[in-house]
Amino acid sequence: MSEITSITTEGVLTLSLNRPKKMNALTRAMYGHLAQSLNSAATEAEIKAVVLTSEGEHFTAGNDITDFMDNPPTDESSEVAKFLGAILEFPKPLLAAVKGNAVGIGTTMLLHCDVVVASPTAKFSMPFASLGLVPEAGSSFLFPALVGYQRAAKIFMTGESFDAKQAFEMGLIAAIDVDALDAATTIAHQIAEQPPHAIMNTKALLKARNHDSLSAVMKAEFELFALALQSDEAAQAFMKFMAKKGR
Ligand code: COA
Repeated sequence: MSEITSITTEGVLTLSLNRPKKMNALTRAMYGHLAQSLNSAATEAEIKAVVLTSEGEHFTAGNDITDFMDNPPTDESSEVAKFLGAILEFPKPLLAAVKGNAVGIGTTMLLHCDVVVASPTAKFSMPFASLGLVPEAGSSFLFPALVGYQRAAKIFMTGESFDAKQAFEMGLIAAIDVDALDAATTIAHQIAEQPPHAIMNTKALLKARNHDSLSAVMKAEFELFALALQSDEAAQAFMKFMAKKGR
């Protein structure tokens, strides 16, 4: 079974993270698969909207730490960079249904989505600094713009998590629903029934103000992130994670 499953129903492509035994931690292969699926969906006329979701109890525990250690994504041709480029440029409505842990990129990718629905179990966190890393996926730009500088700085600098209610109040998610996938899929189908060019133009207009600045920030973040990945601070944090339960 693929670690990313995809199914298309009535114009809505659902991409599901399917590595529940590892809390859907994202490997290079999974990023590559997601990037390819999004890039294909961007050009396939029959696909009108995409929903990102997950199998099991959690959305994702973020980047796979073993993969980070073995294959640090340090250049623009890496699968992580391709995924980030794909979500930045995705021209059609991108929705997400989130439950359980949404760590690191599990939260930052949501900043690129058009509509996110979370289950009351959702727990968001961006513990980059705690891991010796820096914010990624444009989050150092998008998150303070969303919640204000000080709330963003506190969350980034403490590594603290926040729940669905807080995420709703911040505007990170559009709704809370016990069946987040069902709710997100319903919205995706409503959007899929709309005139597709009007929807894509609406999205382009909504995203236009930030696009170029965001793209520049993502490039800068990526460079700093690549350096940080090779730092002693990151090595120590990763070893601590690996040592837990004798991983
Ligand atoms: N990379 C690789 N494997 C991961 C992972 C990650 N980011 N997060 C979780 N897993 C794996 C664990 O190794 C474990 O597998 P195992 O039983 O084979 O050892 C399984 O997923 C369940 O995780 P576990 O740590 O046992 O669950 P928990 O409920 O005790 O803790 C977290 C949940 C999210 C707090 C904890 O898993 C964690 O801190 N993960 C790392 C998150 C992270 O730092 N991500 C990177 C952000 S850039």
